[in-house]
Amino acid sequence: MEKPSKIAPAKGKLGILLPGMGAVSTTFMAGVELVRKGKSQPVGSLTQMGTIRLGKRTDARSPLIKKFVPLAELSDLTFGGWDIFKDNAYQSAANAGVLNPQDLEKVKPFLSTIKPMKAAFDRDFVKLIDGPNIKKGKNKYELALQIKEDIANFRKTSRASRLVTCWCGSTETFVKPAEVHSTPEKFVAAMQSNHPAIAPSMLYAWASVTSGVPYANGSPNLSVDIPAIQQLAHDHNVAICGKDFKTGQTLLKTVLAPAFKARMLGLEGWFSTNILGNRDGEVLEDPGSFKTKEESKLSVLEYILQPQLYPQLYGKMCHKVRINYYPPRGDNKEGWDNIDIFGWLGYPMQIKVDFLCRDSILAAPIVLDLVLLLDLAQRAGMRGIQEWLSFYFKSPMTAPGLYPEHDLFIQSMKLKNTLRWMKGEDLITHLGQEYYD
Ligand SMILES: NC(=O)c1ccc[n+]([C@@H]2O[C@H](COP(=O)([O-])OP(=O)(O)OC[C@H]3O[C@@H](n4cnc5c(N)ncnc54)[C@H](O)[C@@H]3O)[C@@H](O)[C@H]2O)c1
Repeated sequence: MEKPSKIAPAKGKLGILLPGMGAVSTTFMAGVELVRKGKSQPVGSLTQMGTIRLGKRTDARSPLIKKFVPLAELSDLTFGGWDIFKDNAYQSAANAGVLNPQDLEKVKPFLSTIKPMKAAFDRDFVKLIDGPNIKKGKNKYELALQIKEDIANFRKTSRASRLVTCWCGSTETFVKPAEVHSTPEKFVAAMQSNHPAIAPSMLYAWASVTSGVPYANGSPNLSVDIPAIQQLAHDHNVAICGKDFKTGQTLLKTVLAPAFKARMLGLEGWFSTNILGNRDGEVLEDPGSFKTKEESKLSVLEYILQPQLYPQLYGKMCHKVRINYYPPRGDNKEGWDNIDIFGWLGYPMQIKVDFLCRDSILAAPIVLDLVLLLDLAQRAGMRGIQEWLSFYFKSPMTAPGLYPEHDLFIQSMKLKNTLRWMKGEDLITHLGQEYYD
């Protein structure tokens, strides 16, 4: 791909469309408003707090990322969304119980104005929840057209000059890529015939991309990760990325596993278990939805450790992931990892990680960064899969035939080098020989 010749300025409002207005979405919106009011800091957001080094280490040029590339200002963000429940964003946030009542009270008037549009929903894909705020239509194609209308209406009423969609809806049951996902024509025919391999999340993806709106996929659902939608993203010059926000346990896995490999330490096994009590946890009780999540969580180690290259170190590793719904914990997940490694002469060692995290607190800044960076990519004329945003995903999308990069620090370098490349700055290789000439 050619370097963008110019990046259009971030003029006017940026409308953020969120299919799924649950814990992550509402924590994100409430957080943006708290930061805008000067009542909180955007901790965890690279676009708001991060800097980027330019030139040599001796040049002392490290601007804030948001000053280096033209990102939308938080004051220019406006929000809309869909959900199967009728609760407005304030009620939904109160129900999710992530933020404390004092914080929520400060943004109650703002959140109360954000009311969900009717969702395209199908219980065959999310078995354990049901709600009253659901679209009706003869077939899936009609539902997708209704979503397109919603997008067009939101564009008008919000007076946004640009839009971005970020899927924050539930994890759907496992769907394998099939023939009906292979081309835009087959995909439309499948929507019209109500084909069972067309999930609701794909309807939002299709509607968004064919409306010229970039789309980020925060769940492990296939959604935009199918050739039909990727083709459409090219045809409509739309940036897309996914999938599955990399937040707690997997974030740490993609930090620890590269360290073992860098030092040629072996891995016998990695057992990961979670207890969580939010609605996401409830949905993941269903084996179909769990399978989608499990696939996303499991692939990470295989790709990082490359057992085919290092059979003595990783050829026999046993990797298990469990998720248990345990209501008393709410959104405050506990992720345990037991890691059996071995060192010099094969002597065994163990590492235990107990991450008492907050799921949506970790996810919200990722949503913010993704919508801002996707909007930037779109204004820079970048289309199709945005692999440089892998940094934010458990299961990064790549071009066909490419394996995904999971190592967090390679992902971070890739992201920052892409920003440098967009602005015509030298890429940083970390070679550093020039300092010793
Ligand atoms: N929080 C994290 O750390 C994290 C990490 C990775 C991925 N995710 C994914 O992000 C998504 C959101 O997580 P959450 O904790 O906010 O879950 P949540 O259950 O609180 O919110 C999801 C919302 O989506 C709605 N929904 C389901 N199907 C829909 C449809 N077809 N159309 C519109 N709305 C629909 C549900 O009613 C619910 O309100 C999940 O898929 C989750 O797996 C979250």
